[in-house]
Amino acid sequence: MTTLGLIGAGHIGSQLARLAIANGYSVVISNSRGPETLSGLVAELGPKARAATPPKAAKAGDIVVVTLPLKNYKTVPVEPLAGKVVIDTNNYYPQRDGHIPELDNESTTVSELLQAHLRKSKVVKAFNHLYAASLTTAGQPARSHNRRALVIAGDDKDAKETVTRLIDQFGFGTVDVGPLKEGWRIQRDTPGYGPRRNAEELRLDLAAAKRYRDMK
Ligand SMILES: NC(=O)c1ccc[n+]([C@@H]2O[C@H](COP(=O)([O-])OP(=O)(O)OC[C@H]3O[C@@H](n4cnc5c(N)ncnc54)[C@H](OP(=O)(O)O)[C@@H]3O)[C@@H](O)[C@H]2O)c1
Repeated sequence: MTTLGLIGAGHIGSQLARLAIANGYSVVISNSRGPETLSGLVAELGPKARAATPPKAAKAGDIVVVTLPLKNYKTVPVEPLAGKVVIDTNNYYPQRDGHIPELDNESTTVSELLQAHLRKSKVVKAFNHLYAASLTTAGQPARSHNRRALVIAGDDKDAKETVTRLIDQFGFGTVDVGPLKEGWRIQRDTPGYGPRRNAEELRLDLAAAKRYRDMK
């Protein structure tokens, strides 16, 4: 039995929890306001789900998802995530997150920021470019014709294989865009960000992506 830990239980976190439960995982969910505020979601998810604080969810997870407003990424507990595969779903919205200079000047990327915070973890960027609602409605079995595909990026090959298997179980193909620093190719406002794409279409979108500075 594998346990999925979730730091963040909003639109994306709750949907990933539903998919994990549907695929036989246990889940430990957490948010900023405390486990007691997640009792409704835990009741919906059933006996394989529980709520905890972020450090406890991080410790319990074999794989842990960080899915919160990016402005709060530095609160993600570091030590309980050491050595673990950590999935980063986050995007940068300055209106919500405030300005982060190194993202504004594109000297780094969202998932590299999280990796720099979680030095001893293996961060894989995933689930950042589809609407939360689609997670539970757009999945199809492996080898389905025209299956929807999702982008992953990461610096650790084994971690990416782990996440590829998880995404496959959840109903989607994957396209590996390369190391974390290539994650900008699927950031907000790029062609692949949002629409339904199969793997072939997504590769074309990634190749056509432009930096913010080149969009003006
Ligand atoms: N919504 C989408 O369709 C979508 C799609 C792809 C990617 N994303 C990205 O994925 C991330 C999550 O999006 P979302 O739509 O799920 O956000 P959301 O609905 O606003 O949920 C955010 C969750 O994070 C929790 N949280 C906030 N600060 C926290 C902290 N310091 N420690 C632990 N938990 C904390 C919140 O808990 P409290 O309510 O207790 O504060 C809430 O459960 C964002 O970066 C977003 O840009 C979203």
